[in-house]
Amino acid sequence: MDRLEITLPDDFHVHLRQGPGLAAYASRSASRFGRLLVMPNVVPPLVSSRALDDYRKAVEAAIRSSPNASTVLSTFKLIPGMGADAVMDCVRAGAVAAKYYPAGATTNAQDGVPDPTVIAEELATVERAGLVLCVHAEDPAAPVMEREEAFIPVLDGIIGRYPRLRVVMEHLSSVAAVDAVLRWPGRVAATITAHHLAFTVDDLLGERLSVGFFCKPVLKTARDREALVSAATSGSPKFFFGSDSAPHSPAAKAAGAAGCYTSPLALELLAGVFDEAGALDRLEGFVSLAGAGFYGLSPNEGRLRLWRSDWTVPALLDGVEPLAAGRMLVWMAERLP
Ligand code: DOR
Ligand code: ZN
Repeated sequence: MDRLEITLPDDFHVHLRQGPGLAAYASRSASRFGRLLVMPNVVPPLVSSRALDDYRKAVEAAIRSSPNASTVLSTFKLIPGMGADAVMDCVRAGAVAAKYYPAGATTNAQDGVPDPTVIAEELATVERAGLVLCVHAEDPAAPVMEREEAFIPVLDGIIGRYPRLRVVMEHLSSVAAVDAVLRWPGRVAATITAHHLAFTVDDLLGERLSVGFFCKPVLKTARDREALVSAATSGSPKFFFGSDSAPHSPAAKAAGAAGCYTSPLALELLAGVFDEAGALDRLEGFVSLAGAGFYGLSPNEGRLRLWRSDWTVPALLDGVEPLAAGRMLVWMAERLP
């Protein structure tokens, strides 16, 4: 197959930032995705209806000034001590998910959750309100390659303690995580990024240090990547796409910031991965149908075209070094008008 047309995809995990950059990142995402589940780890964090409203309006204004329409899905951050009323305040402001960052696990997560018992009341409220709990599943106290696996018992506890809570384990990176998601009940699903499907720790460290490939959770081994590709191409509705596109300025990247800017090339990368796995017919389920189903949304009405054609990822896009800058990709994608 050299070309295909699919339902317009959604991105169920994206960082659009704030201030300079927001307009370009939001516009870039809108050129590819019908809906954007926007992460709340801005500064100050999104923890109230007021903050949520202001941020959503800023993102929507950026999208309106771009050529493509896209719907913003809001999330808020769970922080210790916020209380049930603050959670309900965010629910009333239209949030569709609460984000759980373990304290210190990643960018702007110092104010995150040290232990789930600290936010027991907040988690019970998220469950009662029927929202999704999105979890950055890493234990920052564990060795860096084992952080995701070390967090699985914490998720076991949350899933057991809140029997109706819908949970998304975000950006899977390991065999252990794939196995856990398959073992958990149907109310637990997972996002997988394009970079965790296409690359391994060797792209980050193998030849020379390539900070463009540095993200949390870190890229893992070929065996882990194979398990992720099997999950994504399996057709299971438990696995769907979230880019975790996380732009950082060149200065911040040079200083070691974790995050890959992938919005401009994620769909092209995914087409390559699914093509190599002989599973291009399953791409639409992964990027356009499974996530919408989990979040209770109808598929988008728009369409996306993909076709086989070589191109080289530019060194700079939107003021940021994109993932895989300088590498050749073999698929192109375009949102149809
Ligand atoms: O690499 C990452 N960057 N992982 C995250 O979880 C957060 C993100 C960011 O905000 O930069
Ligand atoms: Zn993220």
